[in-house]
Amino acid sequence: MTAKHHLELTQVGIDFPTPKGPFTALTDVNLKIQKGEFISLIGHSGCGKSTVLNIIAGLHKATKGGVILDGHEVNEPGPERAVVFQNHSLLPWLTAYKNVELAVKQTSKGRSKAEMRDWVEHNLELVHMSHAVDKLPAEISGGMKQRVGIARALAMEPKVLLMDEPFGALDALTRAHLQDSIMEIHADLGNTVVMITHDVDEAVLLSDRIVMMTNGPSATIGEILDIELQRPRDRLALADNPQYNHYRHEVLTFLYEKQRKVESVAEHRKKAQGKTKANDASVA
Ligand SMILES: Nc1ncnc2c1ncn2[C@@H]1O[C@H](COP(=O)(O)OP(=O)(O)O)[C@@H](O)[C@H]1O
Ligand SMILES: [Mg+2]
Repeated sequence: MTAKHHLELTQVGIDFPTPKGPFTALTDVNLKIQKGEFISLIGHSGCGKSTVLNIIAGLHKATKGGVILDGHEVNEPGPERAVVFQNHSLLPWLTAYKNVELAVKQTSKGRSKAEMRDWVEHNLELVHMSHAVDKLPAEISGGMKQRVGIARALAMEPKVLLMDEPFGALDALTRAHLQDSIMEIHADLGNTVVMITHDVDEAVLLSDRIVMMTNGPSATIGEILDIELQRPRDRLALADNPQYNHYRHEVLTFLYEKQRKVESVAEHRKKAQGKTKANDASVA
């Protein structure tokens, strides 16, 4: 096993069958991730970010190419690749504690009862949820539910933590708290993380590299930006950091110039006028 090729996506492409024939969502996605790296995937809605994550998770099978984790091809979901979704997906009839415990049981590490309790509690503590272990999902806030979802994923001791817009549904303050927690946990545990986000600040704050995807169909990696900001990172200090703002600008330029998705009102008007003229001409 070489640290260089911890997680490797090679020539990944996928065609989805549709009534109109195959739809090529991704082509030629190549990415080598090192152990412990924090990677963000960013790109416009519908470009294929979740599809990439789901292929790494083993939930979708690539039509072309494939994924290798520590020398083994990924063919199906497994506990070494835990996923956190935007909507917590906790079982509503189980307490926070029981939700985490259920996931740990699936990893079958042969823990004693006492070891199990310690481990579940430890992971809930990591996400600052020790005070609410016996609460049901309906009894806690959205941010707390995401914390439990993260604890559940971490408790499986994954080699890779996959997160699909994990903070996307939260208000800005709650999101900031959870980002700080994720940075702490990443510093402590050193998991490899692949996180999807559409938040440019979040991507720059958290990542070692930002992987920017082109628009689909046949989406692929457009650019990769190395974020060489010292850790631990502090959001307040970074607000006036020129390097931070440079990275931010790079991502914004990629998204809103190079991969612009929505035409401006002025452009739309221009096109519409062009069409009217063409129509007029054809009538004349
Ligand atoms: N199971 C599927 N069948 C057909 N098309 C799909 C399927 N899953 C995703 N797609 C299409 O693939 C593209 C990428 O989707 P997705 O990965 O969800 O985008 P993102 O997460 O970047 O918003 C979209 O055009 C979407 O409609
Ligand atoms: Mg998505």
